[in-house]
Amino acid sequence: MNDKINALLRRVEEFSPETAAAVEEFRIKMLGKKGELNALLEEFKSVAPEYKREYGQKINALKNRAMERVNALKEQFAASVTPTESAGDMTRPASSDDDAGSRHPISIVRNQITDIFARLGYTIAEGPEIEDDRHVFGALNFPPEHPARDMQDTFFIEKLPDILLRTHTSSIQVRTMERQQPPIRVVCPGRVFRNEAISYRAHCIFHQVEGLYIDRGVSFADMKQSILYFAKEMFGEQAVIRMRPSYFPFTEPSAEVDVSCNLCGGKGCNVCKGTGWLEIMGCGMVDPNVLEECGIDSEKYSGFAFGMGVERIAMLKYGVKDLRLYFENDVRFLRQFESAL
Ligand code: PHE
Repeated sequence: MNDKINALLRRVEEFSPETAAAVEEFRIKMLGKKGELNALLEEFKSVAPEYKREYGQKINALKNRAMERVNALKEQFAASVTPTESAGDMTRPASSDDDAGSRHPISIVRNQITDIFARLGYTIAEGPEIEDDRHVFGALNFPPEHPARDMQDTFFIEKLPDILLRTHTSSIQVRTMERQQPPIRVVCPGRVFRNEAISYRAHCIFHQVEGLYIDRGVSFADMKQSILYFAKEMFGEQAVIRMRPSYFPFTEPSAEVDVSCNLCGGKGCNVCKGTGWLEIMGCGMVDPNVLEECGIDSEKYSGFAFGMGVERIAMLKYGVKDLRLYFENDVRFLRQFESAL
């Protein structure tokens, strides 16, 4: 009996587990119901009465020592669990660390644009990036031989000549008109694709926000006032706009909109190339052909549309000189926008 007790005591002292699971296994083997200690107690029943006291004390000491070792080892393993191994305390307050993310400048400016028009009662409409010819060109009065349909501008999906990546978000305006009768007031943000060589001022992927307003008696003056409101909200109260005649197949008359250069206040600098003006968007009165094509009565309704590039507005607003910076995701560039919304 004595030898057995001593042997078990040695095992308890020499036990050096590698994992918490090994400790548990050891506990079961020693102190469990069918463990070594219970087996010893079973044997103890048949020990001669004169030895009971001595062996009883020894077995008790062994049991206490074994329990002490197991508890100490368990604690040791619990303390060495690193925070990545456990989920930790999910209720503790978040630390205010310096590495909080920030929005991309394109998202910031896109949200600013759509927010300004939301204040004028516009809602947001979205649509697919992979489109068909009708929604990007056909319904928008592009004649079949129009150069914008050319392979040089448009990315066509191979083997499906009618399926292509949208070159402008005007396709969303077509979808809105097909679905809904006036009054219509929507802004259409989204990614667009053009087969252009990448440079500091052009990219094959960029973002637009286009807008459409159709109701009874909507005039060119309404359009001009809405765009002036936008320019002042975006570039400041001092901003003024001018319109230059232009051409788009889907609007008549059409115009390019310039805003007074916010860097030199209109005096002329290298950003506005000495003109005092910066081009910000295209616009025009929706061509009656387009309304009819989309199921809207052009005798009853009229409207205007406009479209701008988000990258360009962001460049003008933040003085970004190279468009490629928006796509490189260099954190040294992105961090500069942390304070913006
Ligand atoms: N869709 C035109 C473009 O992508 C922009 C535009 C929209 C012009 C609406 C006029 C009216 O360049």
